[in-house]
Amino acid sequence: MSKSILITGGAGFIGSHVVRLFINKYPQYKIVNLDALTYAGNLENLKDVDQAPNYFFEKVNLLEADKVEAVFKKHLITDVIHLAAESHVDRSIISPLDFVYTNIIGTVNLLNVAKNFWKENYDNHLFYHISTDEVYGALGETGFFTETTAYHPNSPYSASKASSDHFVRAYAETYHLKTIVSNCSNNYGPYHFPEKLIPLFINNIITKKSLPVYGDGLYTRDWLFVKDHALAIDLIFHKGKADETYNIGGFNEWRNIDLIKLLCSLMDEKLGRQKGESETLITYVKDRPGHDRRYAIDATKINKELGWKPTVTFEQGLSETIDWYLQNTEWLQHVTSGAYQHYYENMYSSR
Ligand code: NAD
Ligand code: DAU
Repeated sequence: MSKSILITGGAGFIGSHVVRLFINKYPQYKIVNLDALTYAGNLENLKDVDQAPNYFFEKVNLLEADKVEAVFKKHLITDVIHLAAESHVDRSIISPLDFVYTNIIGTVNLLNVAKNFWKENYDNHLFYHISTDEVYGALGETGFFTETTAYHPNSPYSASKASSDHFVRAYAETYHLKTIVSNCSNNYGPYHFPEKLIPLFINNIITKKSLPVYGDGLYTRDWLFVKDHALAIDLIFHKGKADETYNIGGFNEWRNIDLIKLLCSLMDEKLGRQKGESETLITYVKDRPGHDRRYAIDATKINKELGWKPTVTFEQGLSETIDWYLQNTEWLQHVTSGAYQHYYENMYSSR
């Protein structure tokens, strides 16, 4: 049976990679991208695939449950891959309620619509929820997050994601909705909004602005190339076991300051600047409140059960990412000027 897959948040960073992968790899599937186009949603991320015959876009906010239901009816949705979220930790510290609305209430709205729409036979439909390693809290110098690590969220962002994960699990238990959750480490790659560490610093190095390092810079993250996350999502969607959780990570830990210095040196080389030039932009600034010291994912389960592992090294992925930003100056210029927010009107007003 062919599928009609609702991908939420498909105009965002990771969602756009998942949408592109599914459109190209599965022409027999209908791919419906539901996105509210918040500041983080950018349809220019999908410019190369948005004319594909199996692609449909619906500008809908998850908070409007009736509109979400209408999308299910219109496209006879068979499965959901749910990525839409408020995703930036710093914004969650300034405005926690935005995260409660989208990440918790938005997810519960989506669960309710799926539960009602699929009630004849839950076995034939999958609700796949994309989550984060931040739900597990912070690690000390050693150890890894496994699928059985207790939840201990520290930021309003991670608390809202943890809550949404719990709701998904509760809907599986209570209503027998077929669900899967995956929790991934820090992604990087093309189309990443320049508010997050790597794209922000790439943009600041290009424009010779200061590089604001939070606290002592010794915080550690486990970085994964976004295309490898999309491949993991594809594999889990098709081969994952119902009602299970999968951790996804790169076994690739970097202290922020070491990563930033690597980025500076790669960019000096690519931009033909003097060795050491970009490092002079490094500026230590006030720390993020509640800053988690270290994340590290144990990705053994997905590796052993589904055979997934990253396809690129960090050096390859980072180099490809920098090249992409250097080549896609128009994308970056539209994002930093805000012009990308007019893409929807220009593209869809006549349709
Ligand atoms: P993003 O911020 O780039 O994109 C989020 C998308 O969701 C945007 O297109 C936005 O318009 C849309 N959206 C926001 N609120 C909405 C609403 N109320 N209704 C409909 N659409 C809405 O996020 P991302 O970095 O691509 O992350 C995608 C998912 O993956 C999130 O659930 C995030 O928690 C998770 N995740 C992200 C990372 C990472 O490193 N970026 C790592 C692990 C997990
Ligand atoms: O671990 C997965 C998570 O990774 C995702 O769930 C989130 O959606 C995603 O935003 C990311 O969260 P982080 O907080 O780890 O990412 P961010 O890029 O904001 O920060 C990475 C590290 O760099 C973190 O230790 C904070 C630091 N930092 C960040 C920024 C933006 C700085 O030192 N300076 C900065 O300007």
